Amino acid sequence: MTSVTVRTPAKINLVLRVGPRRPDGYHTLATVYQAIGLYDDVRARPSETGEFSVHVHGGQAHLVPSDESNLAVRAAQLLAHQYGVDAGVALHIHKQIPVAGGMAGGSSDAAAALVACTELWGLHVPRERMSELAAQLGSDVAFCLWGGTALGSGRGEVISPVLARGVFHWVVALAGGGLSTPRVYAELDRLRGTEATPAPHVGPQVMLALREGSSEALGAALGNDLQCAATSLRPDLLQTLDVGEDAGALGAMVSGSGPTTVFLAADAEHADAIAGSLSEAGVCEAVLTAVGPVPGGRVVG
Ligand code: C5P
Repeated sequence: MTSVTVRTPAKINLVLRVGPRRPDGYHTLATVYQAIGLYDDVRARPSETGEFSVHVHGGQAHLVPSDESNLAVRAAQLLAHQYGVDAGVALHIHKQIPVAGGMAGGSSDAAAALVACTELWGLHVPRERMSELAAQLGSDVAFCLWGGTALGSGRGEVISPVLARGVFHWVVALAGGGLSTPRVYAELDRLRGTEATPAPHVGPQVMLALREGSSEALGAALGNDLQCAATSLRPDLLQTLDVGEDAGALGAMVSGSGPTTVFLAADAEHADAIAGSLSEAGVCEAVLTAVGPVPGGRVVG
């Protein structure tokens, strides 16, 4: 086999409830993930030198590490180590998912590298084993393998599918600069102070909205506990959210740890109108539209 290419989606959190900080430094989460149609392509081909390497292409490529600290490289190394594969791999990432944007771009590349290298090396890795490896790499890598719409618990790595009907139309506003996920969680801890935090819980509204396929109901059910921390670090995001809301978005929120913001529209035309308002107001770096849910990482070539 000469190469394997995997197309892998961005994620958003429809609801992100953050519980107490655990002794290992992670926070317990209750979240509903949705994969949306904004993709990175990860190509794996045999390495001529026997080493692990990565090249990243695309607008924000310069922001992505191209050494062994890249999560996709670590995914390939972990898989090789676990299955006794005595070969390296050359990874090429075509990046479209915002970098450090709160959309799991790095995690999604890692999930894609697991899928691509499994195929390239002809391994038979049961789905549960793949999820375990994914969880070792990061909290939302396992979801990126699954895609669709799913409930995440634990630190986000325990995934169970959720029934979702219909198609949801999202507007994604990219913000320059990026935000460090650990920093946003630390800011949340600071804002919360010493108050005891209850165990996180996803309410029934979001599940009902998804089951009905109702964009109006989903818009009203969106919620992100990290939003106050992200906007505390990046107050400019409040203006972006306001513009999207004024343009008639059914829901508006920071995506994950930010600084990307997402807006739910009623249909494709409405999404274009919201995107137009955001661009015109000059409150973000770029605007994209995407539908969800979409499948997790898939071999496309
Ligand atoms: O798991 P991942 O490497 O993606 O997490 C990045 C950072 O985000 C962690 O080091 C931690 O600071 C924070 N985090 C957290 N609780 C979670 C997930 C992430 O505190 N459930």
